[in-house]
Amino acid sequence: MATLKFLLVFILSLAFAFGLANSQSLQVGFYKKTCPNVEAIVKKATTDFVSRTPTLAAPLLRMHFHDCFVRGCDGSVLLNSTKGNQTEKDAIPNQSLRGFQVIDAAKSALEKQCPGIVSCADILALVARDAVSLINGPTWQVELGRRDGRVSILLEAIRNLPNPFDNFATLKSSFGALGLSVKDIVVLSGGHTLGVSHCFSFGSRLYNFTGKGDTDPNMDQNYIGQLKTKCKPNDVTTTVEMDPGSAKSFDTDYYTMVSKRRGLFVSDAALLTDSQTKAYVLSQLNSRGSTFFKDFGVSMVNMGKIGVLTGKSGEIRKHCAITN
Ligand code: HEM
Repeated sequence: MATLKFLLVFILSLAFAFGLANSQSLQVGFYKKTCPNVEAIVKKATTDFVSRTPTLAAPLLRMHFHDCFVRGCDGSVLLNSTKGNQTEKDAIPNQSLRGFQVIDAAKSALEKQCPGIVSCADILALVARDAVSLINGPTWQVELGRRDGRVSILLEAIRNLPNPFDNFATLKSSFGALGLSVKDIVVLSGGHTLGVSHCFSFGSRLYNFTGKGDTDPNMDQNYIGQLKTKCKPNDVTTTVEMDPGSAKSFDTDYYTMVSKRRGLFVSDAALLTDSQTKAYVLSQLNSRGSTFFKDFGVSMVNMGKIGVLTGKSGEIRKHCAITN
């Protein structure tokens, strides 16, 4: 019995030590010695693109989110499919991602200065931050040290990415399973101050909410009328701005839209169905977004820690779209 106990303790401590070795925490300034100009190089690449094409900021932010929610922030969203193996990139929610050329430009500039050092997962986290700050949004310190995964599977993206028709309970459990809080849900949803959505992501709210040709009672009926002029039934091509008029600028309008029941998705409207998230929406509205920018930085750092590979796990890819 004593031997068995000893063996158990031994195995457990080995597992613990191994776990620790593979879960070193991320840190600001991780590349201070190995690639001291990493932040400036990534910022330059991002600025080159986003200052010419500000609409790229939105998909770049979304790309980091989609990376983190599937297998952790490991750059798996960047991998191209290979023969017979479709990757996350091929999944429908990822087909509208754009801006991969920004990641590639940053990577090739980095490979010239510090070959084999900076992961694509870290580049993505930095680009998302820089893209947001370039269009009047907040900035925050990005903790670095992620390594790149070698696996990317289409079905995992479909299963793990939140769906625009998710209700609050579903959002709470999917964010919660990744270690994110209810506050993170309402703060990160503020990313919908940027960019566009295809009509199909909310179309049934306008035309056929419960299968009886009805509209979603939780959306402002006047707004439904306006959206119907843009989105025809079963429209698969048109896009509309999520925050009309300022979709290219990071601001607090998202919370105004949600409070007026003009959020495009069921998942946006869901923020009014929970007391904590509703209170946050109203607090930003009443204070003109007094804490949103700071909160967004904090929640982005939280999101950036999901399931990261560190230490000796994974690899540092040479090209972000292919494993070494
Ligand atoms: C809460 C769960 C979320 C759901 C269900 C969701 C869903 C969606 C959907 C359906 C679209 C439109 C896609 C299309 O039809 O083209 C979209 C766009 C977008 N989402 Fe989310 N999202 C969520 C959270 C987030 C988070 C956490 C962020 C970033 C922090 C984010 C950033 C964006 C951005 C920037 C766009 C616009 C992309 C563009 O203009 O290309 N979303 N989201």
